[in-house]
Amino acid sequence: MTGITVRTKAGLRFEEEGSKLALCRAMSSNPSLSAPRSPFPPGTRFGPFEVLGPLGVGGMSEVYQARDARLGRDVAIKVLPPGLTDSPEYLARFEREARVVASLNHPNIAALYAVDDRDGVPYLVLELVPGQTLAELLEAGPLPLVRALDLCRQIADAVEAAHARGVVHRDLKPSNVKVTPSGMVKVLDFGGASCTGTSSPRT
Ligand SMILES: Nc1ncnc2c1ncn2[C@@H]1O[C@H](COP(=O)(O)OP(=O)(O)OP(=O)(O)O)[C@@H](O)[C@H]1O
Ligand SMILES: [Mg+2]
Repeated sequence: MTGITVRTKAGLRFEEEGSKLALCRAMSSNPSLSAPRSPFPPGTRFGPFEVLGPLGVGGMSEVYQARDARLGRDVAIKVLPPGLTDSPEYLARFEREARVVASLNHPNIAALYAVDDRDGVPYLVLELVPGQTLAELLEAGPLPLVRALDLCRQIADAVEAAHARGVVHRDLKPSNVKVTPSGMVKVLDFGGASCTGTSSPRT
């Protein structure tokens, strides 16, 4: 049996048989990379944030790059698309995502800065992650082995940190992972995560 083992900093192991990309491909069920429907054009204001343009769209939300003029930085604003803002189920999911991400603090997980609402519709203010999603990277073909292993290790580190806080992502797939131009992984989208409520203390 040919196998590759990725060992994370704290010893978690991912074992892969056959293909070096099996792990990443197994996480991919439906990369969502279509253009955003853009109900919020450039210039739209979310409190102190001004939309600059779309970043991506998922099955449940749309994400925009926005400017925080007060702090002089750009952020990612994640909103429910108009058709879902009346759904108690999706609103609850959004609130849960905010609480879950707020409970996590790890360099491989996109951070939550704030949660607020615009005309009663909630939005998340997230760390802006530059670069491409893993789904976009894989569209160009298989990654070199060393790079694939490095990305898998970083993903595993993020997952391990979440598990240590009692959080299970439950929707880990390439479109929910971004890779910055310097090669840093940021796991996104804890909208479907479960939280057991039991966690080990932060160190
Ligand atoms: N913090 C961020 N920085 C940059 N781009 C982001 C960020 N968060 C999300 N995106 C982009 O927006 C896309 C959709 O975001 P996200 O996966 O959070 O939405 P979703 O609707 O919950 O997705 P899903 O269909 O997986 O449920 C991502 O694939 C990514 O391209
Ligand atoms: Mg997603």
